[in-house]
Amino acid sequence: MIYRSRLVGWGGYLPARIVTNAELAQRVDTTDEWIVQRTGIRQRHIAGEGELTSDLALGAARKAMAVAGKVAADIDIVIVATTTPDETFPATATKVQAALGMTRGAAFDVQAVCAGFIYALAVADNFIKAGQARNVLVIGAETFSRILDWEDRSTCVLFGDGAGAVLLTAEEAEGKPGDRGLLSTHLHSDGREHDALYVDGGPSSTGTVGHVRMVGQHVYKHAVTKLGAVIEEALEANGLTASDIDWLVPHQANKRIIDSMRQRFGLDEDKVVLCIDRHANTSAASVPLALAEAMDDGRIKPGDLVVLEAIGGGLAWGAGLLRI
Ligand code: ACO
Repeated sequence: MIYRSRLVGWGGYLPARIVTNAELAQRVDTTDEWIVQRTGIRQRHIAGEGELTSDLALGAARKAMAVAGKVAADIDIVIVATTTPDETFPATATKVQAALGMTRGAAFDVQAVCAGFIYALAVADNFIKAGQARNVLVIGAETFSRILDWEDRSTCVLFGDGAGAVLLTAEEAEGKPGDRGLLSTHLHSDGREHDALYVDGGPSSTGTVGHVRMVGQHVYKHAVTKLGAVIEEALEANGLTASDIDWLVPHQANKRIIDSMRQRFGLDEDKVVLCIDRHANTSAASVPLALAEAMDDGRIKPGDLVVLEAIGGGLAWGAGLLRI
């Protein structure tokens, strides 16, 4: 017998304000046609003034807890994956912890940019497998709009704000690929690729927050090869093949990257959860937002095998296999 991390709660939260491609085209030299063709993005949600990453995280967390039927006292750990914390410190997770009314347990942030949610899932899963936590709230939350250079058309059109959360609970299982829960997570990074995607500031280097800088085509090529490889790795680790995949819930960075994963693993279009058109790239929030949407509308069903994957600055990337 082993412990598995079962998905028992999920939820997404988006700021009310929607910014369309047409609206962006009034501010920078771009067009709706370019953005849709190159990325699949049609609009993004942008946080309002005074609306912080912790506010979005809290909205998603409350939904996940309601779905799971859990209260604050049940939660052992809160992990927030974010690149846009409310403050440099303390961890945004501690603000969420307090706002939820939790008076025990631990709360901390994980930073792996767009791969942050997969990293946070891996951390949560290992606490659960080790028997050190029963209920872990894993949240991906971003106000990425705050670190964009709104004059740089090559990046500002790509991102949006939002949050997604899952609640994982420890459940005894046989340790087989048919078990419900997270089967495995697989993380990688390559710090030599720093210059491909970074912010040009930080507390220790400039004393500022900085803005996103990206060599788009370079990241694109890495994304396609590295995501493909890490999905293969996850399947092999569990003795599974592409034909066992019921759903791909990918990081929503570029529809062309997602399409290339779908083709590589021979998946039909209706087996891929897409929200990039409406959310754009919400960094650490993108995978849990997509997952929550497909759980809420009943597309993903109990017993389904879901592949989660993401890549971002670092470069850092990873994948997880989750049986619902
Ligand atoms: N509107 C109009 N034209 C534009 C825009 C824009 N918003 N942005 C760039 N262009 C122009 C460029 O200037 C270039 O013009 P030129 O040919 O005259 O020089 C042309 O469009 C092509 O630019 P490319 O960068 O080659 O376009 P590409 O097809 O590679 O698409 C994109 C760019 C969408 C950024 C793509 O490379 C991509 O998706 N990369 C990966 C992004 C990613 O996965 N990031 C990881 C996660 S993010 C994170 O971790 C924070």
